Amino acid sequence: MYGDRMKIGMIGKGNVGSHLGKGLISAGNEVKFGHRDPKESAAAAAAFGDVIILAVPFSEVKNVAKDVSVAVDGKILVDVTNPIGSGMSPLLGSNTSAAEEVQKLFPKAKVVKAFNYVFAKNMEKGRLNNEQLTAFIAGDDADAKKKVMALSKEIGFEPLDVGSIVSARYLESMAFLIIGLGYGMKMGQEIGFRLIKHD
Ligand SMILES: NC(=O)c1ccc[n+]([C@@H]2O[C@H](COP(=O)([O-])OP(=O)(O)OC[C@H]3O[C@@H](n4cnc5c(N)ncnc54)[C@H](OP(=O)(O)O)[C@@H]3O)[C@@H](O)[C@H]2O)c1
Repeated sequence: MYGDRMKIGMIGKGNVGSHLGKGLISAGNEVKFGHRDPKESAAAAAAFGDVIILAVPFSEVKNVAKDVSVAVDGKILVDVTNPIGSGMSPLLGSNTSAAEEVQKLFPKAKVVKAFNYVFAKNMEKGRLNNEQLTAFIAGDDADAKKKVMALSKEIGFEPLDVGSIVSARYLESMAFLIIGLGYGMKMGQEIGFRLIKHD
């Protein structure tokens, strides 16, 4: 439901997991973290959450799938991963996306792509200098998208439904672009995407 407080299983406790987790906790949600520490396992986080967030390197998603197994079935699985290898090499071609590959690995989950085009530190507030960033949300399950849009709004973002899971291909390209701007073009991490629409 829009605006409900939720139980969230955060798989990954690195840059994304900690910043996005902080934003979600500040908004009043319960977050259980899971990573490679057996005392805080991915399986326990997945079992806890009504919404599971995948915040691990894309290359580790297969291992996570083995560990969490059916705990994700029927639940919303938010994919924040980017298929980026060493030296910014793309790990996938342009006719798929990390999100579509995640959906294949978790066939019974409702996969939603979000936040992957935002620098981790900006995931805490969804804003830069009090200006809202857009949370572009892609997925095939309308209700799952609505819930993730609500969560992004609670953090501070302006949510925008960008269509089916196939749109994740464009959201993942946006990640390559913003990393290139932030590091390659030396603009730093105080940058983000906002869609402007005039009527
Ligand atoms: N950094 C950003 O600004 C940013 C922004 C948008 C999207 N992303 C994407 O988000 C994902 C995470 O990035 P990050 O920067 O947060 O990476 P990170 O700081 O390296 O953190 C990765 C986390 O994943 C956990 N992990 C790795 N393999 C695992 C496994 N098999 N099972 C459970 N947990 C596992 C690690 O566990 P340990 O704590 O045990 O080491 C760590 O907590 C990547 O796909 C990245 O492309 C990053």
